[in-house]
Amino acid sequence: MSGKGTVKRVCLAYSGGLDTSVILRWLIEEYRCEVVAYCADIGQEEELSGLPEKAKDSGAVECVITDAREEFARDYVFPAIMGSAIYEGVYLLGTALARPLISKHHVEVARETGCDAVSHGATGKGNDQVRFELAFRALAPELSVIAPWREWDLRSRSDCMSYAEKFNIPVSASAEKPYSIDRNLMHVSFEGGILEDPWRAPEQDMFILTQALELAPDVPQELVIGFERGVPISIDGERLSPAKLLAQLNRIAGSHGVGRVDLVENRFVGLKSRGVYETPGGTVLHAAHRAMESITMDREVMHERDRMAPRFAELIYNGFWFSPEIEYMRAAIDVSQQNVTGEVRLELYKGNVTICGRRSPVSLYSENLVTFEEDQGAYDQADATGFIRVQGQRLAGRGPFSSG
Ligand code: ARG
Repeated sequence: MSGKGTVKRVCLAYSGGLDTSVILRWLIEEYRCEVVAYCADIGQEEELSGLPEKAKDSGAVECVITDAREEFARDYVFPAIMGSAIYEGVYLLGTALARPLISKHHVEVARETGCDAVSHGATGKGNDQVRFELAFRALAPELSVIAPWREWDLRSRSDCMSYAEKFNIPVSASAEKPYSIDRNLMHVSFEGGILEDPWRAPEQDMFILTQALELAPDVPQELVIGFERGVPISIDGERLSPAKLLAQLNRIAGSHGVGRVDLVENRFVGLKSRGVYETPGGTVLHAAHRAMESITMDREVMHERDRMAPRFAELIYNGFWFSPEIEYMRAAIDVSQQNVTGEVRLELYKGNVTICGRRSPVSLYSENLVTFEEDQGAYDQADATGFIRVQGQRLAGRGPFSSG
């Protein structure tokens, strides 16, 4: 995809860590090109203040930092919650959702700074390379893509360390990283290290966002989450911006140990991989949102959306966020959420999210219709006789079946 000698200026997704610092230098050495460093703030909570100096010390001609936190929560995390997007039944897609957003700003910065190529630090074994590059292809097919991990002969972390030493690249002291960590406003993910043995449990001190259950408070905490057309808008009646709402929920739910999952997942490239995730706020929002839908959503619309949900999740996971099929699904999901407005009351306690109440000004729930008490003639129970008789028509005398 890339051509040495033809590339003049590359925009590199840069974090200031060992890998991307080495890549920055390597691009200059191998491609004899200029490098613009780019970093999106999506709530990874890494020190970004010293980043431009660090990038320039490593040889970058420029360093651009964009704040994408609100956009991430509003346009990526919340739509995933509205679409009930959960991969393989458990993974809430924190990394998969961030990649297209990072790529979108990446190509914008590349264009604004006159680059003819983009580069990233994702390895050749993972999903992230696919997500980045499918987004590049959709948004800026004219840009060349350089993926050093698929090209160079550095094979390990220690190879990278020696390369850094050779070129005097400033790297922080913590050379031995026990896990591959990816953090943003939605989650923290951990892979690699001892987690590569799927039988082995993680060390407790690995976790960043969530409290261990035995140390979590012994009393439950009640919260009320407000929704408007499927979008979370408030906590306990206080309206909050998307990023602030998610950050606050992370703090509260994290302190109760909510949102840890440990799974072996199927990567798009055909490998099985063990991952551990902390998604406290996202876990609360998925639960609360579904409870909100339970009184506000038409049954058939809900079931259609639910049939679409695993496919929606799979497309997000596989990196097709910017695709006609996702555009189609998101339009349908938006329509499904038109009436999803109201409040959900829940309790957080020792890793659990327990729904305790829901109410809505546009509720479809009717106490009068469903009641076991006298219903004032709104529902004629005698009608159910014919309903069941017709449903049973083709079953008459067909049993017993092998199921028993
Ligand atoms: N397995 C998860 C996913 O594919 C998390 C990936 C985390 N990425 C990383 N570079 N550590 O979405």
